[in-house]
Amino acid sequence: MRKLIFVWLLFVGVGIYPQAGAQSEAPTPQSNAPAAQSKPSGTQSKPSAAKSKTSAAQSKAAAAAATRRWWQNAVFYEIYPRSFADSNNDGIGDLNGITLNMDYLGRLGVDAIWITPFFPSPQVDVGYDVSDYENIDPIYGNLADFEQLNQAAQRDGIRVVLDLVLNHTSDQHQWFLDARSSRNSKHRDWYIWRDGKGPKQPPNNWLSIFGGPAWTLDPKTNQYYYHFFYPQQPDLNWRNPAVKDAMFDVTRFWYERGVAGFRLDAVDALFEDPKLHDNPILPGKNAYGDPNMEDQYNRNLPEIHGVLKGLRKVADEYDAVLIGETWTTNIDQLKKYYGDDKDELQLPMDFMFTMVNKLSPTEFRQQIAALNSAGSWPVYLLGNHDIERSYNRYGDGKHNDAIAKVMAGMYLTLRGTPIMYYGEEIGMENNDPKTKADVKDPKGKLGWPQDKGRDGERTPMQWTDKVNAGFSKTRPWLPVAANYRTHNVASELKDPNSILIFYQKLLTLRRSTPALLEGDYVALNESDPNVMSYLRSYKDKAVLIVLNMSAEPQKVSFNLAPQGFSVSEAKTLLSTTRTMPVTAKITEMTLEPFSVYMGEVSR
Ligand code: NOJ
Ligand code: CA
Repeated sequence: MRKLIFVWLLFVGVGIYPQAGAQSEAPTPQSNAPAAQSKPSGTQSKPSAAKSKTSAAQSKAAAAAATRRWWQNAVFYEIYPRSFADSNNDGIGDLNGITLNMDYLGRLGVDAIWITPFFPSPQVDVGYDVSDYENIDPIYGNLADFEQLNQAAQRDGIRVVLDLVLNHTSDQHQWFLDARSSRNSKHRDWYIWRDGKGPKQPPNNWLSIFGGPAWTLDPKTNQYYYHFFYPQQPDLNWRNPAVKDAMFDVTRFWYERGVAGFRLDAVDALFEDPKLHDNPILPGKNAYGDPNMEDQYNRNLPEIHGVLKGLRKVADEYDAVLIGETWTTNIDQLKKYYGDDKDELQLPMDFMFTMVNKLSPTEFRQQIAALNSAGSWPVYLLGNHDIERSYNRYGDGKHNDAIAKVMAGMYLTLRGTPIMYYGEEIGMENNDPKTKADVKDPKGKLGWPQDKGRDGERTPMQWTDKVNAGFSKTRPWLPVAANYRTHNVASELKDPNSILIFYQKLLTLRRSTPALLEGDYVALNESDPNVMSYLRSYKDKAVLIVLNMSAEPQKVSFNLAPQGFSVSEAKTLLSTTRTMPVTAKITEMTLEPFSVYMGEVSR
């Protein structure tokens, strides 16, 4: 409660939000506010009918917009609960910590939170080893706390999305304990058991993605079980219909409790070749000392799509969203996850976009064009709990804050659904372990020093410049990153030029600007290697987005006549170039290094 009052004072008492029409009052969730979440809430933000003079393309865009679903206009925010806020001061974040800070999220302007697993778990893989899918781990709270969290979310117009670990359970799950008890047990065939090829020889050459063989011998029944991840995460056998039924029921359990959807963990690993063909070996070794391998026979099998179609049918009963952890190497693979009839995942994540680890307008343009060519609704993210923070990946060490704004300026204004990662909005940086002994993530121990694990991007949320960054009164489970003294919520709320205030302004602009939600994407000045620019146009208006991704000032000029806007000026909506006039001449603009410009043009 104390924290709630504290955060509330920060926002309301200090009067930090100066922008006109910004969130100076209680958040006013618009048409995308969750209704009773277990009921379909229908479409949102229906635009008025297109004027008769609009072109066919415009009418089409308007028609598409009229059928937008809530998850298309929403901004999602990923919360790693162990690191978000610790309400009971045991050093570990918890559900009440999220509830107490829901107000912060509402005022920031996010529409949905995705919370990574908080279910009972031995925590070998920080909750991605689930031992009971229908409960809450006591370190995070209980079902009543979840109910409160959900109510707080509804109050602030935020939907709650959970993480569903489909591919594997914990080795401490009752299903696996039973499965390993005897070859004839009820749940034996819920997992993947095989005889070894010979003494001390696993059934084939498949490797765990976290190092070592993907098979572990279980001495009691003298068979190997398969695990794509840690040995404590045995893979479920999705060829057994009982597994499917049980997991589908899990989704119903949570939908009935008001959950608005799931992020599906590791979907590409659901099926394996039943004949267990060896995978091809590639040259070289990985961080764990294993030979490099192409996961040809235990990844991306076509059977996955049947499961996704089934999950989608259940989700549709609740107007819920399915977000996919879909690692793909090309757009055709990603396209498949939407389903041939758009009947699988609504939001498969495009990780290829996160692999552009440089400020390259050319590469971003290519990625965006490829994604748009898939003909589905794009999903954009910069990072998550498995990837080095975007602040480090894109930062040059000197202009990181300006670059963080450029990256936000891009992925929050592209046509599609953005997924933020907690702390990105304040410029949190990676804090990698300094020694092997400090590592908590098991794969960081196995892979040290090449792979230091994922602790660095999972550190406590930086709320204040006080001890433990205001996350907890006790030493947190992971050390806070060094930049917490300058990069924290309390300090940034007081600084009109902070990354946080920029995000808040941008999210306010996004939700109040139909062109940013519904508009087409048109790349502009495509041969410019330094400045990324594009137009989001909708009906009679468009937003021009200009991002200087270089360390030098840049001069740019725009001719928007081919897009139907014969104008030479734009009304400035948001700019980090301080000298930018309220009405900017778009035929002759000078941009500061690493800067963002957004302006509105009208037909
Ligand atoms: C993907 C999750 O994001 C990651 O954190 C986890 O270790 C694996 N799946 C296994 O569940
Ligand atoms: Ca706690």
